[in-house]
Order: sequence, then structure tokens, then C-alpha cells
Amino acid sequence: MTFNSKPKSFVTRQGRITANQKKALDSFWNQYIICELSEIQEFIRGSYSLLDIGFGAGETLVSIAQKKKDISLLGAEVYLSGIGNVLSKADKFNLDNIRIVSEDAEDLLQNKIPDSSFDAIIMFYPDPWPKRRHHKRRLIKKEFIELLNKKLKPKGVFYFKTDWKDYFDKVNYLFEGPNWEELNVRDLEKHLRDIPPTSFEKKAIQANRSLNTKIVKKVN
Ligand SMILES: C[S@@+](CC[C@H](N)C(=O)[O-])C[C@H]1O[C@@H](n2cnc3c(N)ncnc32)[C@H](O)[C@@H]1O
Repeated sequence: MTFNSKPKSFVTRQGRITANQKKALDSFWNQYIICELSEIQEFIRGSYSLLDIGFGAGETLVSIAQKKKDISLLGAEVYLSGIGNVLSKADKFNLDNIRIVSEDAEDLLQNKIPDSSFDAIIMFYPDPWPKRRHHKRRLIKKEFIELLNKKLKPKGVFYFKTDWKDYFDKVNYLFEGPNWEELNVRDLEKHLRDIPPTSFEKKAIQANRSLNTKIVKKVN
């Protein structure tokens, strides 16, 4: 399979863009969106850096950015109204520690992120693609985990949540082995421990779906 023909983990959609999101997209795109290799590398170099894959409406990204001003938070998302939401909040709360890459997170990791870059990568409630014939669209698979391992710094943390038990079981299985050490929420630094539930998490609770968390540390 060639790189461009890989199954997409997202459906290209704009979503309903509110007037506020449109204003933020028009006004702050150049300030917060980065795409050049050099800009991305410059942003994450040096300080503690975190990547939020598929940040959706950006609740988690913004919440961490507000609590922890001295870290670099990179968000990857393809959903324009979610990006507008983050830009609006970043301006409102004066968050200069956020940058966004508006492209496929897998392409970003493969092509623009040097190895050993992130202290933490989070992926909360990725699109579950519940039908078996769509499982190939799920982001987490063996090759993606190898990519995560390469892009984390030694002892870097990957934090994953899903409300789809079969996705969780697969992820759990894929993280077995000597490259990863299992962690609990209480082992994490404070900014990763106290994360408010996102709207997806609240919906899962309302629908009585189980919340499943996997946290692993890159060994060495
Ligand atoms: C179900 S939402 C979860 C959003 C958020 N993490 C949360 O917990 O509320 C999944 C998000 O992942 C994004 N997404 C899916 N595949 C992606 C990819 N390859 N690169 C970047 N974003 C992606 C989708 O656009 C969607 O907004």
C-alpha cells in the first residue's frame, strides 16, 4: 500500500462553524497554525512538549495550556470548527503555549517530527470506527505504536482513552512487550492528572459506555 492510499482515520468534514469560530479562524490562523517543518521543530525544541492527537473541540488542550504555561502544546486536528474553537480560546486566555497543525496526525509524525521529541502524547476518544470493516481506519495499529515510540523522548508518556471496549482491548494487547511500562493516572504529573472530562467523555457516561484508559511510558 502506498502512503497516500492508506485508509483515512477521519471523514473530511468542516462541521458547523459558528460566527465566533469563523472570526477566530480568520483572525488568528497565522498566529497559531504552523505547518513548515522548521516552525514545528522550533516550537517543540527545548522545553517540555506535549502532542494532543485529534483534539476535537480542544477542551483538553486548552485546559492543560491554561494550567501549565511553561510547556509547548502541539495539537493535531483536521476538524475546522474544533480548530476555530481553540483559536478563539487561545486568544481569549492569551495562550501563547499552543500551536496547531491542521493535518493528519500520522502524516505529521511521519514527516515533520524528529525522533525523541515529545514528553507526552495524548489521544482521547479517537474515532472508534466500530464496524469491523472499518477497523482498518482506526489510528492505533502496530505501525502507529512504533511511530509513537520513536517520537516520544525516553520515559515519555502516551495517554489514551476510549469508550469502545474492543478498541481498548486491541490497544492493550498492542502495548504489551518490553518497549513500554504501564502507568496509572496517579503516576502522572499534575497537569495530566487533573484533566476535566471532554464532551465526548460526558456523552459516553450518559450512554452508559465504559471509560477505558491506557497509560504507558516509553522504556529507556
Ligand atoms: C471523537 S473526536 C475526540 C476529540 C477529543 N480528543 C475529545 O476527547 O473530546 C476524534 C477527533 O480526532 C480527529 N481525527 C481523526 N483522525 C485524525 C487524524 N488522523 N489526524 C488528526 N485528527 C484526527 C477527528 O477530526 C475528531 O475531531
